Amino acid sequence: MQITFSTAALPKSGAVIIPLFEDGKKPKAYADIDAATDGAIERAVKAAEFKAKKGAILEIVAPAGIANGRVILIGAGTSKDLSALDAEALGGSAINRVLSTREKIAVFAVAGITPKKLDAAQLAARIAHGARMKTYRFDKYRTKEEKTEKPVLAKIAIHSATTKAKTIYETFDKIGDGIFLTRDLVSEPANVLYPASFAKRCNELVKLGVKVKVLSDPEMKKLGMGALLGVGQGSVRDSKIVAMEWLGGKKGEAPVALVGKGVTFDTGGISLKPGPGMGDMKWDMGGAGAVTGAMAAIAGRNAKANVIGVIGLVENMPDGNAQRPGDVVKSMSGQTIEVLNTDAEGRLVLADALWWTQETYKPKAMIDLATLTGAIIVSLAHEFGGMFTKDDKLAKQLAAAGEATGDLLWRMPLTKNHDEMIKSDIADMQNIGGKGAGSSTAAAFLGRFIKEGVSWAHLDIAGMAWNEKDKPTIPKGGSGYGVRLLDEYVRANYEG
Ligand code: BES
Ligand code: MN
Ligand code: ZN
Repeated sequence: MQITFSTAALPKSGAVIIPLFEDGKKPKAYADIDAATDGAIERAVKAAEFKAKKGAILEIVAPAGIANGRVILIGAGTSKDLSALDAEALGGSAINRVLSTREKIAVFAVAGITPKKLDAAQLAARIAHGARMKTYRFDKYRTKEEKTEKPVLAKIAIHSATTKAKTIYETFDKIGDGIFLTRDLVSEPANVLYPASFAKRCNELVKLGVKVKVLSDPEMKKLGMGALLGVGQGSVRDSKIVAMEWLGGKKGEAPVALVGKGVTFDTGGISLKPGPGMGDMKWDMGGAGAVTGAMAAIAGRNAKANVIGVIGLVENMPDGNAQRPGDVVKSMSGQTIEVLNTDAEGRLVLADALWWTQETYKPKAMIDLATLTGAIIVSLAHEFGGMFTKDDKLAKQLAAAGEATGDLLWRMPLTKNHDEMIKSDIADMQNIGGKGAGSSTAAAFLGRFIKEGVSWAHLDIAGMAWNEKDKPTIPKGGSGYGVRLLDEYVRANYEG
């Protein structure tokens, strides 16, 4: 998708998008277009009693003057309330309408709009970003889609003051690339994306200046990663750990580490999941997907920070060699775990990935992302990721990054009592708690693999990695949740 910023004359074809406000604010081009169409716009607004409510759309097809195009009026609410994220949603909603047409060009006429909370350049860049995010499609496996069914939109032009918006947008462009990468990874089926092929995709980040290291079976065995390897032992696909290193900050400064659960398919193992809905478990690598996309964003925009992304990649399958309920495994940390349920596998993978990350990189802060529990969806539905941390400052920083980007987080309890719920009769701990607080006992389990002095947060994103429904800037499917959150957390706290 080509994206441009310019104040050149509006084209006489394509889709011209005009945001309107409830308080009557309009872009400069409104009067011109109304004049050029012999008053068709104004007449349509009156006839339809268009009130410019947020997200409302009024489309005028082929009016005189722009005979081979259309004008799309989109409601933007009140101008004093329009936030940066509202501007992105506006961009996404408008472009969604254009995508269902045969228009090749969409022009956002925004010059002259002055919302209270955004300057003109921010407004333009945010609209562009939101619009681009909505154009995402995962269509590589559609071989029979008619040409006439595929969207033909090729260019989004923002009619606005140019240079500053363009500069701001360049950063969004890189973050957007990271989000698209995450959506691709999350959408891939598990016969295509498995530990080795996932690692290969990570290798492409080398182009952005990221150093990529891959640990394979024998190395992990040698390191004593019995928890992670136990999960993968029922699969014919070998497990991997991938480390992505971006050292854009001060030399020698301790990095921030991002760690992701990458279960490329979760059948539950011998504690087999029920059939209906099991296909969803192709996106049980959503944490690893978010970490990989965030690394692409961070490297792509040349962040001045030292950031390490580590992902634990395994496939959880039941076969003759699979781990059994009741097995005891030894983690790299030396602690033993009684595996009472082979479907509580994400925490086993993370136990070794987290420990290895701390031993190898001595991070000052560590954030893990995982589609860890169904229970977090019971608590928070698809509105927030669940945040577990004992560090109030880190909680604040992450919550702020969530607010700023729309990747929202809600803090959940993590206490000594939750830790007591995973006591085992025969080992150092068991991998499940009792009946209640399943997300908190999972977090407490991870907490046992965090070293003294490391500032750590666990983000349970089981409800966020996949969207069952369209959102203004996210088509149904892989959401890319977590990429902006992590990127913004790094930007706000580690760069100068
Ligand atoms: N990958 C699942 C959690 C999950 C569920 C993610 C639904 C996305 C949507 C995880 O490995 C799992 O199976 N968790 C179990 C834990 C239980 C056995 C303690 C769960 O949530 O049921
Ligand atoms: Mn599971
Ligand atoms: Zn899982």
